Amino acid sequence: MEWIKICTLDEFPLGTKRLITLEGKKMLLINNKGKIYALAHLCPHMKLPLKKGKIEDETIVCPWHHSSFNLNTGEVKKWAPFPPGLGKILGSLSKSKPLPIFPTKIEEDSIWVSLEPADIAKVNI
Ligand code: FES
Repeated sequence: MEWIKICTLDEFPLGTKRLITLEGKKMLLINNKGKIYALAHLCPHMKLPLKKGKIEDETIVCPWHHSSFNLNTGEVKKWAPFPPGLGKILGSLSKSKPLPIFPTKIEEDSIWVSLEPADIAKVNI
């Protein structure tokens, strides 16, 4: 697996989110209580930015229609439940899809991200 060094841990404090670009693709890096996640920066529902998404435990909640995704697997927990009533209609505009997640590791006091095993060419992020 090929790893790309992003920054040192000191440069990315707890509770921080940052957009990064790897091989021309943007992704969102999150430091949640010392655990680092790398994920597609656009919500799979309507391709809107997730950067202002709320982190609850190991879940990110999209700020737009509150779809939520498991940060470890990308699995959908809720699909477009907001706003009440209208969310159901908005949710039906796009089929429920998982959020692409990329492997991360901390080594030598630095954060590393891999584009594998996700096939980046097929992931529209
Ligand atoms: S764009 Fe994220 S839930 Fe609609």
